[in-house]
Amino acid sequence: MCTTTSKNLIHNARSSKPYACKPLKERRIAIAEIAHRYNVWIIEDAIYAPLVEDKIPPIAYFAPERTFHTGGLSKCFSAGIRSGWVACPPRFADRIANAHKMLTGGAAYWLTELASTLVLNGEANRVMELVKAENQKRHKIATAILAGCKFKSHPNTPYIWIKLPDPWHSGTFKNALAKHNIIVSGEDDFKPARTDQVFHGARIGLFSVASADELIEPLNIIKNLLESGIAGYDIRD
Ligand SMILES: Cc1ncc(COP(=O)(O)O)c(C=O)c1O
Repeated sequence: MCTTTSKNLIHNARSSKPYACKPLKERRIAIAEIAHRYNVWIIEDAIYAPLVEDKIPPIAYFAPERTFHTGGLSKCFSAGIRSGWVACPPRFADRIANAHKMLTGGAAYWLTELASTLVLNGEANRVMELVKAENQKRHKIATAILAGCKFKSHPNTPYIWIKLPDPWHSGTFKNALAKHNIIVSGEDDFKPARTDQVFHGARIGLFSVASADELIEPLNIIKNLLESGIAGYDIRD
């Protein structure tokens, strides 16, 4: 049995990882209980939580004494406003501030001030609603074009996770699309720890083009490639 506190559990509160699973309250309670039993710290990465509006309490609610719940503005407001926060057991607040300073050199004062002003005066919430609406518009285009393919997604988030049919592997699929100048992320980019599990997934970002219409052509290429199988990726030297 593990009795040391030197272990951490990193939990991604929403579907940003290849598993793309839906959160369940029972599962969060179970994670909190296991962490308590093995005396493990929990880092709860909730960067997408404001977009997906989970009705389920975060793990921090079930294990407040050991959870570091993190969030930020870069996904729900703008990637240019890189400001985030950590809710932690109160006795760790100073340590968190120090660790952040040591690791990053400290946040720029004006950026932090801008971020907190935007949150406190409600502007961040207003813009977040616009972000959600644009995400939904792009998600609708993607799900229509990729109908018939297996994927997991949430309409408020700016990407979808495709389940690759046999015999595609994440890396081969990524390379095949690169030949069409389309960059997608393979599953390994998102695994937070070493694992021998393979998910055969690829993440397609819907926000790397300026307008929703620009998604149509690359998504059709992706659809064709999925349908034509590996034959669509013959290498000719
Ligand atoms: C799942 C997840 N958590 C946290 C972050 C960190 O966000 P940022 O550094 O943009 O505030 C990212 C950024 O890509 C992310 O994908």
